[in-house]
Amino acid sequence: MAKDAIVSTDLAKKFETEKDSPYTRWVADEGLDIIAAHYVPDLKEVELKPWARRGGRGVYINHEASRTSNDCYVAEIPAGGQLAPQRQLFEEMILVLAGHGSTKVWNDAGAEVTFEWGPNSLFAIPLNAHHQHFNGSGTETARFVASTNAPGIINLYDDIDFVFGTAHDFPKRFNGEPDYFSPQGEQKGLLLDTNFVSDANSLPLIEAKERGAGGGHIRFNMAKGSMNSHISQFPTATYKKGHRHGPGAHVIMLSGEGYSLMWPEGEEPRRYEWGAGTLIVPPNMWYHQHFNTGAEPARYLAFKHEVVSIRNAQGVPEGLDQPAHRRRPDRLRRRVVVRARDVLEGPGQERPGAADGEGVRAGAGEPPAQARCLTRALATCGPPCRVGRTSSFPRSSA
Ligand SMILES: [Fe+2]
Repeated sequence: MAKDAIVSTDLAKKFETEKDSPYTRWVADEGLDIIAAHYVPDLKEVELKPWARRGGRGVYINHEASRTSNDCYVAEIPAGGQLAPQRQLFEEMILVLAGHGSTKVWNDAGAEVTFEWGPNSLFAIPLNAHHQHFNGSGTETARFVASTNAPGIINLYDDIDFVFGTAHDFPKRFNGEPDYFSPQGEQKGLLLDTNFVSDANSLPLIEAKERGAGGGHIRFNMAKGSMNSHISQFPTATYKKGHRHGPGAHVIMLSGEGYSLMWPEGEEPRRYEWGAGTLIVPPNMWYHQHFNTGAEPARYLAFKHEVVSIRNAQGVPEGLDQPAHRRRPDRLRRRVVVRARDVLEGPGQERPGAADGEGVRAGAGEPPAQARCLTRALATCGPPCRVGRTSSFPRSSA
C-alpha cells in the first residue's frame, strides 16, 4: 500500500474513475498540466508549458480538494505578443505577477473598453465578455495568475463549445461602461466596490489598529461576480488566527516573509516558508495559520470560493475578527496550541487558557504556543526581536 494511503488499495480503485472529470479532461486537451499542490514557493518561477490555443504558456495549479470548486492557473504572454481572445461562461479574477500590458474587453452589442495594467494589478473578467490580453513590452514576458470557477461550470455542462462559444451578453455584469476598469471604487464597510486595482501591494487597507500598527484588510467583489477575494495585512512579529474551512482559498503572498503551518485533523503540522509570490492553498478542512517573521508587514491576496457558507449568523466570514470561543470550539483551539508547540518546540507545558488571535503579537504575558513558535522563528530569521517585552505587545482583544 502506498505510504500516503488513507484507505485500502481496493477501495481506492473503485473510486479511481471519479478523479477524472470533464474539467480535468479539458485541461489535458489544452495540453497543460495540473500541479496538484497546496504550496508553490514562487508563482513567478513556476514552470509553464506552451499553450497552443491561447498563444502563450501556462500551467494549472489545482489541489485535488479544490478541483470541483475553483481553480487557479498561471499564464505568460510572450514579449511583443498577446493571448488569443476568448469568452467564457465562468468567472475569472486576475493578479498580474510581472510585466506591463493591456486588456481589451468587449461584448456582442459592440461596446469595448481597454485598460492598462502592471505588476500587482488586480481585476476580473465580466461573465462571458470577450477579452484579450496584450503584452506592452517588446522585450519582456508578462505573467499573471488567475482564479476561476471553471471546474463547476465545465463539469456541469460538459460541453466546451457551450462554455466558450455561447453568444450572449450579460449587461448587468458588463454593459460597456467607459469607466468600468478605472482605478476607483466605493468603499462599503470592508468591501471596496471596484473592478480594477492598479497595485494590490500598495492599495490602502482599512486599518485594524487594535491588532497593531501595519494591520489591515479589504474585500472585493469584482465584475459583479459571485467569487470573493480579499487582501489582508498583518504586522511584523505577529500571526494570523489558526482556523480551517472548506476548499478553494488560494492565498498569494504579495509582500513580506514568514511561514505557515498547515495540517489535517489528527496529523502533525507541516511548515511552509513563504515570501512575495508564494501560493498557499489550504486543502479542505486543514487547519492553517500564518506567521510573519519578516521586518515589514506581510500582505496577501486570497481568491476565495464560498458555495457552502463559512460565515456566522451575523454574516461575518470565518477567521475575521470573531472571538476565539465563537470562531472555534475549545477542542479546536486546544488542538492548535498543542500541535503547534509539538512541532516547533517539542513537548512543553500547555496553557489551556492561552487564546491565539489574528495579528496577535508574540510575547504577550501568557504566551500561547503560537507566540512561542513565532518567538523562536524571529530569534533566528526575523527582525530585531522585541519578543518577550510583554509591555510592548498588548494582546489582541479578539
Ligand atoms: Fe483560511
